[in-house]
Amino acid sequence: MEMPKPKTIFEPFRIKVVEPLPITNPAQRLQALKKAHYNLFTLPADCVTFDLLTDSGTSAMSSTQWAGMMVGDESYAGAKSFFRFAESISDITGHLQVIPTHQGRSAEALLTQAALKPGQVVIGNTHFDTTRANIESKGGIALDLPDPSTQDSSREEPFKGNIDLAALRATLAERAKDIAFLIMTVTNNSVGGQPVSMENIKKTRELLAQHKIPLFIDAARFAENAFFIKRRERGFEHRSIKSIAQEMFSYSDGVLMSAKKDAFGNIGGFLALRDEGLAQEIRSLMVITEGFPTYGGLAGRDMEALAIGLQEILDEDYLSYRIRSTQYFGEGIEAAGFKVVKPFGGHAVYIDAGQSLPHLKALEYPGQSLSVALYEHIGIRSVEVGSVMLGRKNWETGEELPAPKELVRLAIPRRVYTQSHVDYMIEIFGYIAPQIRNLPGYRIDYQPQFLRHFTARFSPLR
Ligand code: F0G
Repeated sequence: MEMPKPKTIFEPFRIKVVEPLPITNPAQRLQALKKAHYNLFTLPADCVTFDLLTDSGTSAMSSTQWAGMMVGDESYAGAKSFFRFAESISDITGHLQVIPTHQGRSAEALLTQAALKPGQVVIGNTHFDTTRANIESKGGIALDLPDPSTQDSSREEPFKGNIDLAALRATLAERAKDIAFLIMTVTNNSVGGQPVSMENIKKTRELLAQHKIPLFIDAARFAENAFFIKRRERGFEHRSIKSIAQEMFSYSDGVLMSAKKDAFGNIGGFLALRDEGLAQEIRSLMVITEGFPTYGGLAGRDMEALAIGLQEILDEDYLSYRIRSTQYFGEGIEAAGFKVVKPFGGHAVYIDAGQSLPHLKALEYPGQSLSVALYEHIGIRSVEVGSVMLGRKNWETGEELPAPKELVRLAIPRRVYTQSHVDYMIEIFGYIAPQIRNLPGYRIDYQPQFLRHFTARFSPLR
């Protein structure tokens, strides 16, 4: 029988364990908002129906991963689970020196402690905020060189996560001697989960090699990046995801990863390095704060689940569902009448709140206003990525400085929500769209000096 290719992409798994969703109504949610001073970070999770705050540590593990948890070896030193973990990582990254950490930022902390001197520069395609904080807290300078196409949030480019090679060339010509290393983040979370092309990684490698500057890859979402390369870059159509990932890593001197993303882990991270000397130095540092080098802050059972998750995520059926379902959600929100960042990234949909709520000025925090409304009306917890998170207060003058963009991120936990959840959310996006120009602005009533978005208190302007 001749049939068109079905448009519906179904979840390539069936469900064996279920967790009831907290069901609340708008009146209860308004109560919860008032109690939380309109800060979604301070909401108890049992008031949230669709928790899209982050895709980090929120994945559903497979039956194979849960089975792995049971055989986890909890020996303090030289556990069998460590060797399986290291083997799985070396298989994909090609690097033999594997160091487990409790999550991504401790891998960043160890790398910057060992390989960065005060005053040195670390270049990135865009450093994630914990990476930047780790660089700056060691006295380093975090320099972002994102692709110029990221300035236009509606421009459809296949690899908006790329580093700006012209800017990299210029920076190297000017101050190569000041540069400690470069971190390429795949996919580029801070610009919307946008992928980096193989060509961009390869060219970056070539430029750095001329100055003997090491290249590290932040691999938090490496499998999503490899899938985008397969779909969008010439010459990779017929390659397996694993061989694409292996090639990406072959251009690196080391990999650091938050395994809470593309390893389907609820906790965990690692460093995988080529240089044995650097690895030795980090191993001697890590015992002070992280743990013995064969567990590094993780239980044996966690390493076991991650070893399995890292291989599981290379499944093309899963990745094709993952990327398509994120796009489907984004298309639905756009069709409902919201301005969104294009093209859709791998792990999240970003709504441009500045453009969607043009009646609010940046310092009336349109992203905060929209994210509060999405919670009140749909039960979604999202995160503002705009002037609350990235803006700054000048503590000497009291002046508030806005961020360049006002976004709201809806991050999608892996294998957690189904298409009917997404259809329900899209339906209500449609109901609230005609009313968003009536949403109030917000004022910050209290803020701490650092990372204010976690604990700030707000009130609506009317
Ligand atoms: N690198 C990237 C690209 C990340 O997205 C994150 C975390 C980290 C490093 C730090 O890893 O949380 O395990 O210490 N991103 C989360 C997010 C928090 O919501 O995007 P971690």
